[in-house]
Amino acid sequence: MHHFVYCNGVLHAEDVPLPQIAAEVGTPFYCYSSATITRHYLVFREALKGLDPSIYFAMKANSNLAVLRTLADLGAGCDVVSGGEFQVALTAGVKAAKIVFSGVGKTDEEIQLAVAGGVGQINVESEAELASVSRIASALGKTVRIALRVNPDVAAGTHDKISTGRKEDKFGIDWSLVPGLYRKARALPGISATAIAVHIGSQITSLAPFEAAFTKVRDLTLQLRAEGFEINHLDLGGGLGIPYDHLSNTTPPSPAEYGDMVRRVLGGLGCKLSFEPGRLIVGNAGIMVAKVVVMKDSPAKKFAIVDAAMNDLVRPAMYGARHEILPVIEAPLSPGLTPVDVVGPICETSDRFAQDYPLPPLKAGDLVAFMTAGAYGASMSSAYNSRPLIPEVMVQGDRYAVVRRRPSLAEMLALEQLPPWLADEPKGA
Ligand code: LLP
Repeated sequence: MHHFVYCNGVLHAEDVPLPQIAAEVGTPFYCYSSATITRHYLVFREALKGLDPSIYFAMKANSNLAVLRTLADLGAGCDVVSGGEFQVALTAGVKAAKIVFSGVGKTDEEIQLAVAGGVGQINVESEAELASVSRIASALGKTVRIALRVNPDVAAGTHDKISTGRKEDKFGIDWSLVPGLYRKARALPGISATAIAVHIGSQITSLAPFEAAFTKVRDLTLQLRAEGFEINHLDLGGGLGIPYDHLSNTTPPSPAEYGDMVRRVLGGLGCKLSFEPGRLIVGNAGIMVAKVVVMKDSPAKKFAIVDAAMNDLVRPAMYGARHEILPVIEAPLSPGLTPVDVVGPICETSDRFAQDYPLPPLKAGDLVAFMTAGAYGASMSSAYNSRPLIPEVMVQGDRYAVVRRRPSLAEMLALEQLPPWLADEPKGA
């Protein structure tokens, strides 16, 4: 469920017509619905009721301050994967104690920053990292809660590039090494190894892989407890998929079904349970709006070339992801839909949002919305082709605000300079 709907034939974000935003901020832009973010967070929390869950929003999905503050105000913490994300989360108003630091390659500087700042938990991914966290925390005179992120060797059944829980993946600690590492952790100063973390991938559309991984985690918890370890926290990661594309029939499990499964598998352990959803919270809460630059017909294909490109929304180029595309002005019933390739202006064939996508007749200047772009949209964008990062707008009811403006070219260039040997006037003819 989201709050992007047609009203009198015009696509709105909550109560704001999208053409109004386009006229003010220019295209392309991202648009977030505050009500949708709130709703998704509350639906997820409700699905976990009775489990006393801690919800850490995986801010790699969307690190805009307004999004983070909206969630922080609802009580969410953040799952961060870099020193940068840690600082952005704090800036957004998330308390350090409500931050979990994940990631497979934390530097000493990042660990130092997080521990000194009072991070709530560090999810450790290797023996060497365990030693670093212990060394850094003890030097700071602190004790930090750590989880070992375990690799359960479970295939998530999702896109290969976003599967993270198979034993050949770089993530987590190999199952066979886990008990030995807890034994080592017990002897180390500066850490309290009372948690287990697991995350097997993203956009997972079936409960079975989650259940397989969580069952292994339950058995591990019991095994470690039998050996005298105190395990009282389980961090179950994120990964629950969302519906993207009305042309495909994939219906991921609902949060309620996910919650029931978690309750069944892990409910009786007496552990505090943490979750790190990203996509589920913000995916459907954001869209990208672009303008048709030109329509191009060839005997083989019909192309709609829009002013957004793979640098703005990379998911179709990177994962073959399919985002629903809606004309901002609702299409009349006739003359019906024709297949169109919707592409950007970048000189790469992969700069294609959709192939043979059924769309009503479009012309230059028309606006189209790429749906379900709130997760891994803006946060993965780049300035490839010297295209400035596009603005982000948040809507709440009938009001909206630009929450990240488009940088000027001067701002983009301010980070570059010519070396002294090239600083004279250009010598070209
Ligand atoms: N926790 C950890 C440790 C993660 O690595 C991730 C995502 C999450 C939580 C959140 O997963 P989610 O609930 O959003 O599925 N760029 C890709 C997705 C990459 C996900 C990486 N890890 C995409 O656009 O599909």
